[in-house]
Amino acid sequence: MSHAPERKGRPVTLTRLAEMKALGEPLAMVTAYDYPSAQVAEEAGVDLVLVGDSGAMTVLGYPTTVPITVDELLMLAAAVRRGLRTPFLVGDLPFGSYEVSDEQAITTAQRFVKEAGCDAVKLEGGGTSVQRARAIAGAGIPVMGHVGLTPQTATALGGYRSQGRTTERALEVVRDAVALQDAGCFSLVFEAVPSALTELLMPRIDVPVIGIGAGPATDGQVLVFHDLLGIYDGHAARFVKRYANVREEMVAGVSAFAEEVRSRRYPEPEHGYTMAPDEIDRLQTEMETDRVRTTSSLGTTAESTGEPFTGGLSL
Ligand code: KIV
Repeated sequence: MSHAPERKGRPVTLTRLAEMKALGEPLAMVTAYDYPSAQVAEEAGVDLVLVGDSGAMTVLGYPTTVPITVDELLMLAAAVRRGLRTPFLVGDLPFGSYEVSDEQAITTAQRFVKEAGCDAVKLEGGGTSVQRARAIAGAGIPVMGHVGLTPQTATALGGYRSQGRTTERALEVVRDAVALQDAGCFSLVFEAVPSALTELLMPRIDVPVIGIGAGPATDGQVLVFHDLLGIYDGHAARFVKRYANVREEMVAGVSAFAEEVRSRRYPEPEHGYTMAPDEIDRLQTEMETDRVRTTSSLGTTAESTGEPFTGGLSL
């Protein structure tokens, strides 16, 4: 079984991302939360991968993104790192891990770089997040901003709904985006804002902007892995486009397995291990003469020896 994915090209760098923006080359970003989804992102050739706190809902089953902890996200991010070679890897700072002080923000960001191997981190919102972004960037860690719908503070925003639909609210998004850029963010995410607002704002932003529900004018687009592949069963936002229905395939596969186990059609001869006929004969004789003492429940003892169990798919 091969482990590390094939390197498709040179690793994507900050310079390459800026160059792509300058050349008008669209940026493709997906989220990933584990080793296999990272391998898929790698093979598909996306430019950036985000270990989003959306993993709280898609892989950990929390009702919102709020409860996920730094340790939980770090474990997901480290698994993604192991499956990724080429795309630029961004780790999402979870709710409560950066807001309190610059020190807290830098310490958490450093953990994503040191412990999980992330290339950069992302934080949500304007306001105090602007100063936190400045502090993290000042500590030498690339930071991505996120404006518009910011799920970590969705309650304060009136729920999971689009943002910036009146002039006043749109101006807040504009101010936050420009402030985050000025604070040193290498890139911004615009989430769930009117396409017209994005169009008006883009000329003021020099760093690559990745949109999700922000229309076509951004430099790139991001979707949540489980949404775009049809793995996640929860509510899908308007901006989600399903490119596959993997969940249906998964349910069909597991159902077929369960059905074949119940009807004794699995395993078939080719799924088993063979033993030479003379070994079988000898074993039978040994057992009949009772030279092997067997216990009734907890396995064989005494002279019996077993093949080492190695497990896994490649046996
Ligand atoms: O957590 C996440 O997946 C995100 C993206 C939607 C941008 O923040």
